[in-house]
Amino acid sequence: MTFAVEKLLTETIGLDSASIGPTVVRQAVKERMAACRITDTQAYWEHLTGSAQELQELIDAVVIPETWFFRDREAFTMLVRHARSSKRAQPIRVLSLPCSTGEEAYSVAMAMFDAGFAAHEFNIDAVDVSSRNVAMAERAVYRRNSFRGSYLEFKDRYFEATGGGLRPNAAVLKQVRFRVGNLFDPRASFGQELYDILLCRNLLIYFNRELQDRAMICLKDLLAKDGLLLVGPAEAALPRLHGFISAEWPLAFAFLKSERVNTAAPRVSAGIPVRPPIPKVNRSKPALPRPAIGVQAPTKPLDQVSESLIAVERIANAGRVKEAQEVALAHLKTFGPSAEIFYLLGLVQDADGAAPEAAQSYRKALYLAPNHREALVHLALLLRKQGDHSGAEALAGRLDRAQKRSGT
Ligand SMILES: C[S@@+](CC[C@H](N)C(=O)[O-])C[C@H]1O[C@@H](n2cnc3c(N)ncnc32)[C@H](O)[C@@H]1O
Repeated sequence: MTFAVEKLLTETIGLDSASIGPTVVRQAVKERMAACRITDTQAYWEHLTGSAQELQELIDAVVIPETWFFRDREAFTMLVRHARSSKRAQPIRVLSLPCSTGEEAYSVAMAMFDAGFAAHEFNIDAVDVSSRNVAMAERAVYRRNSFRGSYLEFKDRYFEATGGGLRPNAAVLKQVRFRVGNLFDPRASFGQELYDILLCRNLLIYFNRELQDRAMICLKDLLAKDGLLLVGPAEAALPRLHGFISAEWPLAFAFLKSERVNTAAPRVSAGIPVRPPIPKVNRSKPALPRPAIGVQAPTKPLDQVSESLIAVERIANAGRVKEAQEVALAHLKTFGPSAEIFYLLGLVQDADGAAPEAAQSYRKALYLAPNHREALVHLALLLRKQGDHSGAEALAGRLDRAQKRSGT
């Protein structure tokens, strides 16, 4: 039965259950059967396929809601730049899809206000397939987990304390309109509206290649001419495959819809990995290495190290993965080992299809920085793809513990 449910979820919301591990769907079905007081699997299958509400409950139980305010900060810098350049008589239309529990959409509102836009100059639609997430977004009460990283000064300016957490102020809340909707059912979910800016971040990673291509076609249809598409770091190869042009803004993972180039969807080839997951670099302060035995800690000035890391990341962003590997190895030679460079090297090796080498590089990053979040996430994904589910689960547990310890 799990197989049939997985297939139903793929057909309905695009979820490739391999991307979240084999136990998630099984566990969700178990929980739903208990909630419905059904013990027979066939009876549950009939209930599930005959009830839109039960399907929604199951979807709510399997989706990954992971999100936080100003996730990938540079995306918001790029968004505002684009909004400024397309300022005109009508309001700028922004779509956050998927919006999960609302942090992304409210971050857009704050970024736009900070950039000097007045409330009547933009509006934000925010859509997610999970009704539970949308209800939480509308409730808009946030705790520590939604505020991550060191850039948090927006918290004092835009949030008010409320029972159980912090809530964005009335002006921010008013800018966003939430809705339950499915990316794969665009016209039912979004009407005829075309958007100037579309954030579709950290969703495509849960789809298989065929559905990623279908999703890209839906996204393209939702975007106005010259519109801006923002995707997640591990999804940055896809827009180019569909004729989008890089907005050339480091770490924003931003692409412009182009009418000039061939926009036909590429032929789907199941074996081709999505490339390249784009590195995330802390530009001002790269993680300092924990020196390995017999290895000197770097003595070069920090900004030189940063510049060099950014160079690797830029080359990787441009899709030149072989060259990025060479530059990363040269960086290692010049500046010595660090978690950041091993993580970047792992990403480009991963993108180049060199899975064993990538796994080794992620492990080296984790040796130097045991709680390196992105290295944990990417190594877990890699192990899962290789069929090492217990290894992936162990890393997921480690990530969970690291997050709990740091309060994120
Ligand atoms: C990891 S969150 C990403 C949230 C936010 N965009 C971010 O990057 O922080 C993924 C969200 O995708 C939603 N989702 C999954 N499949 C979807 C679909 N077919 N259409 C719309 N939303 C979907 C899930 O409910 C979940 O809230």
